[in-house]
Amino acid sequence: MGNDFSLSIRPRRLRRTKALRDMIRETTLSVKDFIAPLFIIYGKGVKEPIPTLPGQYRFSVDKIADEAEEIHSLGIPAVILFGIPEKKDSEGRISYADDGIIQRAVGEIKSRVPELHIITDVCLCEYTDHGHCGILKGNEVDNDRTLEILAKQAISHVRAGADMVAPSDMMDGRVAYIRRELDKNGFQDIGIMSYSSKFASAFYGPFRVAADSAPSFGDRTSYQLDPANAREAIKESLLDIDEGADIVMVKPALAYLDILKTIKEESLVPVAAYNVSGEYAMIKAGEQMGWIDGNRVMMETLTSIKRAGADLIITYFAKEAAGLI
Ligand code: PBG
Repeated sequence: MGNDFSLSIRPRRLRRTKALRDMIRETTLSVKDFIAPLFIIYGKGVKEPIPTLPGQYRFSVDKIADEAEEIHSLGIPAVILFGIPEKKDSEGRISYADDGIIQRAVGEIKSRVPELHIITDVCLCEYTDHGHCGILKGNEVDNDRTLEILAKQAISHVRAGADMVAPSDMMDGRVAYIRRELDKNGFQDIGIMSYSSKFASAFYGPFRVAADSAPSFGDRTSYQLDPANAREAIKESLLDIDEGADIVMVKPALAYLDILKTIKEESLVPVAAYNVSGEYAMIKAGEQMGWIDGNRVMMETLTSIKRAGADLIITYFAKEAAGLI
């Protein structure tokens, strides 16, 4: 490079000042992107820390409205609820009881913070004594019998006041089945956010401790997706859209940003990403060890999920990130 060398194209010109960097930023996080997960446990007066998810708690029904109010006051528009019942059985019957844990929690939240959008996770794994996401026939999950229970559960959540249901079981045909049953019961205006591309992932480990939902034998590979399969994952989301899903989802988020991007490009519905428990726990652990700057890694992570195409991000960071936006 001699003295007469001159560069005419200099991308760094656009990075020179903060004002300019702010002007050309392509992706901006908003609190309105976030959905905060909440765990509701049986009992009274309970707010217990979840050891695998630092900063997250399990709340009893009488404590949940305070938390919901705080979430709402930060501008976060929605929560997604997970229940931990006292008793479980082989068919997860407690999951559709009128006085079940989620049904009561929904009532509490609705009466205190009616504007907060309540989504309920619809699945059997937290309610079955074997921890699988459906009803067993021998050692296998019986798809079609499971649909009936899932629909009962969804309807009971909506009767209690839920605004949207989110089936996370990965049974075939469950979106169409739940849609039909909701409509039959007069709930045609209640949306379905489908966990449409959900992988059999080790990143759910910390959640299963929180929700007490680990399978007692085997794993979930006969219903959740193989992490190696992109085309099959995209097919699942497109199928769920055909079945009537209002919002689709990719889960986990970070190891599957390629899937998220493709689904965003191939569909015309909002796409959610679930920034799952393992993704959260790893950042918290790295921060606790003093190895990474937790806040910066959190914001970079959430930004990457949005940049890849997420319209909505389900994240345990919702409250913390809201405080930094
Ligand atoms: C199933 C469900 C799971 C998660 C959300 N819904 C666990 C699983 O499939 O085993 C995981 C969420 C997370 O890891 O944060 N009801």
